[in-house]
Amino acid sequence: MINVNRKISPSILAADFNNLGKDILMINQSEADWIHFDVMDGVFVPNISFGLPVIQAVKKLATKPLDVHLMILNPDPFIKPFRDSGADILTVHFEVCNHLHRTLGAIRGEGMKTGVALNPHTSVDVLESIIGEIDVVLLMSVNPGFGGQKFIHHTYQKVVKLRRLIDERQATTLIEIDGGVNLETGKLLFEAGADVLVAGSFIFDAKDPAATIHQLKNI
Ligand code: DX5
Ligand code: ZN
Repeated sequence: MINVNRKISPSILAADFNNLGKDILMINQSEADWIHFDVMDGVFVPNISFGLPVIQAVKKLATKPLDVHLMILNPDPFIKPFRDSGADILTVHFEVCNHLHRTLGAIRGEGMKTGVALNPHTSVDVLESIIGEIDVVLLMSVNPGFGGQKFIHHTYQKVVKLRRLIDERQATTLIEIDGGVNLETGKLLFEAGADVLVAGSFIFDAKDPAATIHQLKNI
């Protein structure tokens, strides 16, 4: 199925935190579709990034949906706080949810889009019974915790398999990829059936981030 979405969600993990407002204004004026927030608790992943105050601050400036990726061990108590802070899409990791159907219901109940992230070792088969409840599946193409890592190539096969599952179930779920995305991996990912690309270092390390977003959007 030809994917008509082709969205870009810049990850602010790689932004300039001394001038975050400037980077958000750049994203507002760019062709980016969403803004990606990598929230890390130092327990589920071996790094701590940022939390609710950053989302609240960005929400005041952002003109695009906030795509919040929770790399935290216990997301349920934070569903409403992230909604209140301005999250539009809330993504939890499959690997930490004992009652994923209930968690997704709670996210939807707060008026957000539901997202489920899979680590590189987790098969897309685990989503077979619940794909109809998911608005976005986030496939990690690096081991979560840090930006600037090398792309894990078996992700392409996972995209093809997930696209088939979504089409078979006639679901409207979007496929988002996170980690090591650049022009080369991004092109192959879109061709494999991905809808949304998260990119951090490739965008924010570039001389002209807005032009890089344009290139990703039009590969
Ligand atoms: C990993 C993070 C990164 C980040 C993107 O936990 O989720 O994947 O969003 O990082 P880059 O684009 O620099 O690989
Ligand atoms: Zn992420």
